Order: sequence, then structure tokens, then C-alpha cells
Amino acid sequence: MFSTRTQGLLSLLALACTLVNVNGAPAASDCTGTISSLDDVDDAVACTTVNINSFTVPAGETFNLDLAKGTTVNMLGDVTFGNKTWAGPLFQVSGTGITFNGNGHTFNGNGPFYWDGQGGNGGVTKPAPMMKIKISGTFSNVKVLNSPARVYSVSNPAALTMSSLTIDNSLGDQPNSKSDGKAAGHNTDGFDCSTTNLVIQDSTIHNQDDCLAINKGSNITFQRNSCTGGHGISIGSISSSVTVSNINIIGNTITNNDQALRIKTDASATGSTVSGITYTGNTGTGLRQFGVLIDQSYPDTLGTPGTGVKLSGVNFVGATNTLTVNSGAQRVAVNCGSGSCTGSWDWSSLKVSGGTAGKIVNFSGIENFTQ
Ligand SMILES: *[C@@H]1O[C@H](CO)[C@@H](O)[C@H](O)[C@H]1NC(C)=O
Ligand SMILES: *[C@@H]1O[C@H](CO)[C@@H](O)[C@H](O)[C@H]1NC(C)=O
Ligand SMILES: *[C@@H]1O[C@H](CO)[C@@H](O)[C@H](O)[C@H]1NC(C)=O
Repeated sequence: MFSTRTQGLLSLLALACTLVNVNGAPAASDCTGTISSLDDVDDAVACTTVNINSFTVPAGETFNLDLAKGTTVNMLGDVTFGNKTWAGPLFQVSGTGITFNGNGHTFNGNGPFYWDGQGGNGGVTKPAPMMKIKISGTFSNVKVLNSPARVYSVSNPAALTMSSLTIDNSLGDQPNSKSDGKAAGHNTDGFDCSTTNLVIQDSTIHNQDDCLAINKGSNITFQRNSCTGGHGISIGSISSSVTVSNINIIGNTITNNDQALRIKTDASATGSTVSGITYTGNTGTGLRQFGVLIDQSYPDTLGTPGTGVKLSGVNFVGATNTLTVNSGAQRVAVNCGSGSCTGSWDWSSLKVSGGTAGKIVNFSGIENFTQ
């Protein structure tokens, strides 16, 4: 047994270690914090294991987890958000070296309360994004049900792998009393990414806008995902002074989308470059407007293209990309500004059937492909 004096010294040391680290910030303890309401969050994030029970987040508040380095989060129940017209986000998580286990549990955004067919373009203010992910490490097995508008915004501070996620906004395909006969869900982008060193894989997305939209960044892999109902997998839209490079779109299944694979750059953009976009082994069916659309006239579709985004190295290589477009849709349309698409692009692994051929405008560098 320790003497009283030694015990006292030890407890003092333990206390000092618990309370502060060298930076003066609270040091994380090797304890388990449990969250059953927002009131529990501050205490729980002092621990490196955080368990989340089922609870409702009060309307108008963000469930914000600012985690200690190396924390493991376990969802043990579903989280629902109260209804309020405000900008959000509904959930935000930050930290480095995080392991976030959703265990198949749900974040329910109560989309039907907000949906009016207008998304971010009008109607009521909708919390967007619903989920703001600012961690490195892993984020997996999380389900998002009925987001008010955009779902995930990802800005990871170091390498992040997001796996086995579900986004189910299928209910938003139906009109409601406020949507004037249109799909009630709108602008429900799956993943908006302006980031580097990110993998998104093995996930299922049913929505009414881009499955993935990459606005800037590099070293992003999107693989083995299933995208249903929306606007396909997009690079863009690309505005001024941004760089996109080393993007790999591999083995995804795109079903009943406006198009499967798209690169859209703003007609008005200046000083941007997009390069090194590789498509391998993707499958698309039920494509309503285009198989592949590369368009420098955004927000117009096949309008007057701009020349301020240099686009190069767009390749379809490796396992065949097989796309089937609906009758009335165009197989491949490329609309480049004069001189702004450059180099030679290898499209040997692209097979598109159905519909009609589109036009390839202002570019002659596509090789190993005929419509
Ligand atoms: C929030 O809105 C949804 C959809 O309209 C509704 O089902 C739910 O009951 C509402 N929740 C609360 C707490 O009012
Ligand atoms: C690219 O991203 C992956 C996954 O996030 C990461 O493991 C890898 O180190 C990154 N590569 C480079 C060159 O940064
Ligand atoms: C080529 O691009 C320029 C803009 O850079 C555009 O004005 C022109 O219409 C394009 N050519 C065709 C045939 O569309």
C-alpha cells in the first residue's frame, strides 16, 4: 500500500494529466463518454471513446462533436433533428485520427418538413449541409434519412475514408403539397467535396441532385458506390482560381440519373485547371439526358462555353465503363471553350449505347473512341 503522502502525490499527478496537456487544451482521457442529449456533449468529448444513444437534437441547434485526437465514436441508436427553417448544419464532427462507427444507425433530417421542390433556390431556408465532416480517419456505416437539402460536406484535415454509408432521400422523388407537382426533394447533393486525400466507397445514395460533386481538390477516389435518382457523378461546378487533379471514379453503378458522368465548368470562370480525371469500370443505366457530359458553359447546358478552365487528362481506361442512355438522350456531349480542352484523352474503355450521339465541340484530342 502507498503511504497517504504518496497517494496524494499520485492523485495530484493524475489530476494534472487529466486536466491539461502541454498546449493548455483539455487533454483527452481514456474514458467512455455517453451522449443521450446535447447537454452531454461537452463532458463526453473529453473522452477518447464516445457512445451516442438515440435522442432528438432540439430544433435550430447543431449536434457538434469536436473530438480529441484518436477518438472512437460508436452510434448505439438513431439521432433525429427537430424541425426549424434555419441554415444548419444539423451535425458537425471534427478531429484527427477519428474512428466513427455508425453501426448502421440513422441521422434523420426530417426532410418532409422542409421539402418544397425548390431546395436551395427558394422556398423556406433549409439546413444545408445536413452533415459537415471535418475529420481524418474513418467514417462508416452511417445512414442519413431525408436530408432537408445537401447531405454531406467533406473537408477532412488529413486522409479520410468514408465507407458503407447510406443516403436515403427516395421519399423526395415524390411531389408533395408544396412542390407544385415536382419532386419534393431538391438540391439534395450526396457528397460535396472541396478537399484532398479522400476515399468514399461502398455507399448507397438515392437523391435528387449530384451523387458526388467535387468543386476543388486532389487525390479523391469514389469507388463501388451506387447512385440512384439524381444527377450523376460530377466534377464541378468549377468556379474561378481552383485546381482539381487526380480524381478516380471507379466501379460505381449509376441508375436512373440525368447523366452518369459529368464535368461542368462555369462559363464565367477564370484561372482554373482540371486535370487527371480517370473513369474505370462504371456502369450506368436509365440515363435520362446524357451518358457523359463535359460542358464548359455551366450553368447553361451546351450553351456558349467559357475558356477560363483548362481541362486535360480526362481518361476512360481499365475496366470498361458501360453506359446505356434512354431514347431521346445523348450518349456523349463535349462542349469545350476554344483552346481550353487540351492534350490527348484516352477513351478506350468507354462504351455507350442507346439514344443518339451528341456533339464534340472545340476539341479533337479524344482518342480510341467513336460514337
Ligand atoms: C418534423 O417534421 C416531420 C415531417 O414533416 C414530422 O413527421 C415530425 O413529426 C416533425 N417533428 C416534430 C417534433 O414536430
Ligand atoms: C491519397 O489519399 C489517400 C486516402 O485518403 C491517402 O492514403 C494517400 O496517402 C494520399 N496520397 C497522397 C500522395 O497524398
Ligand atoms: C468554341 O468555343 C468558343 C468559346 O471559346 C465559342 O464561342 C464557340 O462557339 C465554340 N465553337 C463552337 C463550334 O461551338
